[in-house]
Amino acid sequence: MIDQFSEHTNRVKSIFNRVASKYDLMNDLMSFGLHRVWKRQFVQRLSVKPDAHYVDVAAGTGDITRLIHKKIMGHGLTPCITAVDPNEAMMGQGKAKLIDKGIIAGVNWVQASAEELPFDDNSVDALTISFGLRNVTDREKALREFHRVLKPGGQFLCLEFSEVQHKHINAAYTFYSQNVIPKLGNYIVEKQEDPPYEYLVDSIQRFPNQPTLKDMIESAGFKTVNFTNLTDGIVAIHEGWK
Ligand SMILES: C[S@@+](CC[C@H](N)C(=O)[O-])C[C@H]1O[C@@H](n2cnc3c(N)ncnc32)[C@H](O)[C@@H]1O
Repeated sequence: MIDQFSEHTNRVKSIFNRVASKYDLMNDLMSFGLHRVWKRQFVQRLSVKPDAHYVDVAAGTGDITRLIHKKIMGHGLTPCITAVDPNEAMMGQGKAKLIDKGIIAGVNWVQASAEELPFDDNSVDALTISFGLRNVTDREKALREFHRVLKPGGQFLCLEFSEVQHKHINAAYTFYSQNVIPKLGNYIVEKQEDPPYEYLVDSIQRFPNQPTLKDMIESAGFKTVNFTNLTDGIVAIHEGWK
């Protein structure tokens, strides 16, 4: 019998298989390009240092991996980034996009899940996950795994949809996400069973709010955990240290 965890994992896999080729376009359309601003602000928070190993979990089509690469190069350092994702179709898009942008050296793509990372204990200097944790089936396990692979003093950064703070903005955002996003998704990705952008809206609503996620990150062992709201909390950056 298929358990709930496997059912969720298979559903997420099927959804990202179906959206992979349209994922970047949909991000631009749905967020009016704002996701690019959020991602830049996210990577600004990353500490860089020589000879560091960076891991970008749920790397997907590689936006964060590319920004990390750019940041490290900007500091005159040699990048060593591992982009991790379980989904071949998403990684395929990411690899092609990075090659297209001239990024070949310094990025290694690995097919794996957040819950089981193929890295030694205390081996990673910084770990990022952007718009990924929401899709992870066992989030507590993944957070413990992030803590395990980070070196003492290592940095953890998470960018994710969160709870809108202002009630009027929340009303407009709820209307937009429930009425516009699924229709846009059906138009761009084609109407199909288990529509991907209905899953997106649903997964955002179910995701823990800022203080709850902070507690979860602390429970996994991270110290000095804090969060910053962007665009009134539509998304939030959580940061923690091992
Ligand atoms: C919304 S995309 C985010 C891509 C990219 N990080 C970004 O910010 O645009 C979510 C990604 O999470 C990946 N994912 C789903 N389940 C995962 C898991 N258990 N572990 C790691 N990544 C997972 C999906 O394959 C997909 O590529």
